[in-house]
Formats: sequence, C-alpha cells, structure tokens
Amino acid sequence: MKTTLLTTAAVMGLAAAASAQTVGFSQIGSESGWRAAETTLTRQQAEERGIDLRFSDAQQRQENQIAAIRSFVAQGVDAILLAPVVATGWDSVLEEAQEAEIPVVLLDRQVDSSEDLYLTAVGSDLVHEGEVAGQWLADTVGDQECRIVELQGTTGSSPAIDRATGFRNAIEGMDNLEIVRSQTGDFTRTGGKEVMESFLQAESGNEICALYAHNDDMALGAIQAITEAGMDPGEDILIVSIDAVPDIFQAMANGDANATVELTPNMAGPAFDALEAYWSDGTEPEKFIQTESTLYTQDDDPMAEYEARKDLGY
Ligand code: AHR
Repeated sequence: MKTTLLTTAAVMGLAAAASAQTVGFSQIGSESGWRAAETTLTRQQAEERGIDLRFSDAQQRQENQIAAIRSFVAQGVDAILLAPVVATGWDSVLEEAQEAEIPVVLLDRQVDSSEDLYLTAVGSDLVHEGEVAGQWLADTVGDQECRIVELQGTTGSSPAIDRATGFRNAIEGMDNLEIVRSQTGDFTRTGGKEVMESFLQAESGNEICALYAHNDDMALGAIQAITEAGMDPGEDILIVSIDAVPDIFQAMANGDANATVELTPNMAGPAFDALEAYWSDGTEPEKFIQTESTLYTQDDDPMAEYEARKDLGY
C-alpha cells in the first residue's frame, strides 16, 4: 500500500465524506447464480456502508456497459464498479473516466487495458482456478484413459480464456487425458444443457469420462442433459466446475457432481474497503486484490456447504 499526493477526486471525496458517496455499478447481467449473488452482496455492502449505489444491468452487452459508464461519468459519481463482460475494447471509456478523475474498480473479470486506467481489480486468479479443477481430475482418474468435454464461459471473457488455459496447464503431458470437445455454453444453465446434449449426441458410442465446466450453472444444465440421456452424472461422467453455488453442493450431496472450485461472490467488500481508504486519504490499493480459490469435493460435507450459502442471494 502506498499513499500518494491526493488527486482532485480524492480531495473532493474527502470534502464530501460527510455526505453519502455515490458509486455506479455496471453489472454484466444475471447469467448465473453466482452473478445474482454478487449483485445482491454488492447492494447489501453499499447499504451497510451508506453508499448510494446506482445499478445498471448490461444484459450481457459490452455496448450497454460502455453507455452506463458514460452515464455515470456524466452524473459525476465518486467511483465506478465494472464487471467487464469481455476483456477487450475498454480503453476509450476508461480514459474518459480517468479524465473525469473518477476511479474505476474492476470486479471478478480482467480487461486487456493498461492498469493505469483503473484503480484496482478485485478477483481470483482465474488461471489457477482452471489448474485446481484440472489437477483434481488428473488426481482422480490416475492413469485411466479419460475423454473430457469442456463447457467454456462467454467467448472473449477473461474467465473463459484463463480457466481454459489453467485446466490445460494442469493436464499437460498426461497422455491418458484428452479434451475431445470444447464449446461455449455462455455461463448459463440453458447453454450448458444444450451444448451437453450436442456433445452426447456427437460422442454417442464413444465414452465421455469427464465434464469440465467453467461455471456451476453450466454443469447443472449438463447434469440435466446427462440424466435425460439415461446416464448417471457424477458416476458415468465425472463433473468438475467452478463457483461453489448452493445448487452444486446439493448436486454433490446427491452424487450428481464431484467437485467445484469456489469463487467468492463478495467482490464488493474488498472493493469498497479500497475505495473508502482512497476517498479518505488518497491511499492507493494494490492493482490486484486477490480472492481465494478453494476446492470442494463430495468428501467436504456438501449439505453443510449448501446451508452456509443458501441465503446469500444465489
Ligand atoms: O466472472 C465470473 C464468472 O462469471 C462466474 O464464474 C460465472 O458464474 C459468472 O457468470
């Protein structure tokens, strides 16, 4: 942590400390249970801290996010939270926010822009998440032959890119493990179900040993597709995914899913902590505030994990 000369924005924030700070939040949409929980927790955190949160749902479209950021700049908010749907194409609008001296905090996904254009990014190590999932599968199958299918997240998003890379890093050099099909399910349950149905059809007669899904919602859709095809998810096809939403723990308790890597939906807590320090005396946070990535399996009392999360707005 370092304290630098106060920018005009921080000084204005200091002056306005007595009144409520205003924060614009450009959210991607509501494609997954995890995303819904992140929205709920951000609203809760803002309310608890007396922050006036202006929320904009982009319905998965980058152009809507860019328009929302421009509108927040025109409103003169004290900060902007951005969960960027894809990684590229943010330079101009981030420059506009910077010219207006409005700090931007990235939530849960990364951008390809220069890090000088945002105050900090709160999120997990997305490559590591994929590595944890891949390592779990490698350890579980040992030296058995395993044909893997992969449900990728939204094309061009940083979690889709990095979770694919991490998984491949973990299984690199293991000749018994092969990714035979890979397609986007757009992080949705419907997408996961439809793409899994097409995988099962295309692979009929060839055994699929495991599914790696870039999020739990796609895994849950795929579980439905596998069940409807007369197979036993979690047994006939091993299932590993990412997020740790309550429903995946229920599926794990039923034996339908095998493992998940947790991504906390509370990105707003560390984001608001960083902003409050910045507003109060200009303290600049680290450029990346990393959250934990914990692996859960069927051995970790899935129903207890379900109970611990079920009221968090998922
Ligand atoms: O960016 C985080 C990912 O986005 C979550 O894993 C997924 O569920 C969400 O839609």
